[in-house]
Amino acid sequence: MTCISVVYHSQSGRCAAIAQRVQQGVSSVADCRVYRALDADLNVWLESDAVLLVAAENSASLAGEFKAFLDRTLYPFYEHGGVAMAAMLICAGNDGRGAQAQFERIAKGFPLKLIAATEIVLGEPNVRSLAHAFDWGQALTEGVKMGIF
Ligand SMILES: Cc1cc2nc3c(=O)[nH]c(=O)nc-3n(C[C@H](O)[C@H](O)[C@H](O)COP(=O)(O)O)c2cc1C
Repeated sequence: MTCISVVYHSQSGRCAAIAQRVQQGVSSVADCRVYRALDADLNVWLESDAVLLVAAENSASLAGEFKAFLDRTLYPFYEHGGVAMAAMLICAGNDGRGAQAQFERIAKGFPLKLIAATEIVLGEPNVRSLAHAFDWGQALTEGVKMGIF
């Protein structure tokens, strides 16, 4: 059985709304586990066929609480060995490129195999971005199930 995890951090609720739609997209075709980044640990990487990440850009970087999840699991994961499949969706007010660059740099160190280009959702979630989040979760999960990554 395919297991996909969604790990997110949200301050205002915007990322939480996007992550919820991602989770619904994943759940439409596979088992889905959802973790707040504050609660997530090494096991998320080890138990999941792929990890879908949702967090905001804060001050031109990844939101601190989300980056803390990557920071505290990087060395344990590195010592464990292997590669985890992941994709990242960044929520941002008007940019997002700083967080994207930071995430993609960190992903090389893990190492993570990025199964999709990092996406940026600008502004408040709306009907279109929420629908896209659902499709993003569903399509990536289908890809994992089919073994195309
Ligand atoms: C402290 C702070 C810093 C922010 N810095 C940026 C930034 O550098 N670039 C940007 O595009 N948006 C920035 N934003 C906007 C957030 O990325 C955006 O509102 C996002 O949707 C917030 O999601 P969340 O509240 O669910 O974490 C910032 C917001 C806060 C609160």
